[in-house]
Amino acid sequence: MAAYTGTLIAVRDVDSLRRRVQAWRREGRSVALVPTMGALHDGHIANMKIALKMADRVIATIFVNPKQFGPSEDFVAYPRRESEDFELLSAAGVHLLFAPEVAAMYPPGFASTVRITGLTDILDGAHRAGHFDGVATVVAKLLLQAQPDIALFGDKDYQQLTVIRRLVADLNIPVDVIGVPTVREPDGLAMSSRNVYLTPAERVRAPVLYRAISACTSAISGGADIAAAVATARAEILKGGFREIDYVEARHAETLAPLTNRSEPGRVLAAAHLGLARLIDNLPIPHA
Ligand code: PAJ
Repeated sequence: MAAYTGTLIAVRDVDSLRRRVQAWRREGRSVALVPTMGALHDGHIANMKIALKMADRVIATIFVNPKQFGPSEDFVAYPRRESEDFELLSAAGVHLLFAPEVAAMYPPGFASTVRITGLTDILDGAHRAGHFDGVATVVAKLLLQAQPDIALFGDKDYQQLTVIRRLVADLNIPVDVIGVPTVREPDGLAMSSRNVYLTPAERVRAPVLYRAISACTSAISGGADIAAAVATARAEILKGGFREIDYVEARHAETLAPLTNRSEPGRVLAAAHLGLARLIDNLPIPHA
């Protein structure tokens, strides 16, 4: 078996990706896929490192997927830093970067959409029409293109993770979906490529979102009324300087149905606008 030389290789087309994966398969290697939209931060890199512990070979993908951005969203402004990303992935020890052009993912005539019903009509789906269709379509493509043994996705985008688990189960895609914990700044703010939209003054205020949902999860597990705890969190987020809340909700951790009983596994999820940034975050409700 050829020893791995430690050099990150970047490919932009599916045939090259498949040739690499097939060569690894012939060597008996296990393969992990870590999809991203680039502008990598420590949260992304932590996911790469978890993948490196779980599989012999790790593929990172970078693709700013136009289909998951609404017409009034930030597709054009979304940060793109491919050469810095390449250095970070290389330093982390990732083996392969798949970074296709839009035309390679969606060539002329492309006409398919993967739509998961129900789960995608609520929370972020209710505020970002078509977003999860775009996510499910691109993730289905990436999983079929790379055919990894495992694929890692962050708890940070908890509804996305739930939708992807449903997609993989419903379509019998032979991959294990691994959820990875959210990496935070020292003040609690969840790392996000979109944090660059925050002004310095907004950045100081931003951890209010985390603090409010954290207090909410503790209150619920300590026996507080669920609706009252959520109302308190909403008030704190607005008092902290966020200009608009899309949602703050206590939900069942698997079905994302409204949480009615605190003995069930629960999660508090929130999305709110601070300046130009729309921030999301979520936390599990600890068992009392
Ligand atoms: P992106 O926002 O780049 O995130 C890529 C992956 O990193 C996702 O699984 C996300 O949940 C995870 N992630 C983001 N912030 C994190 C943090 N602070 N700690 C740990 N993990 C974090 O999510 C997407 O891209 C796209 O929707 C994608 C799945 C790639 C499909 O286009």
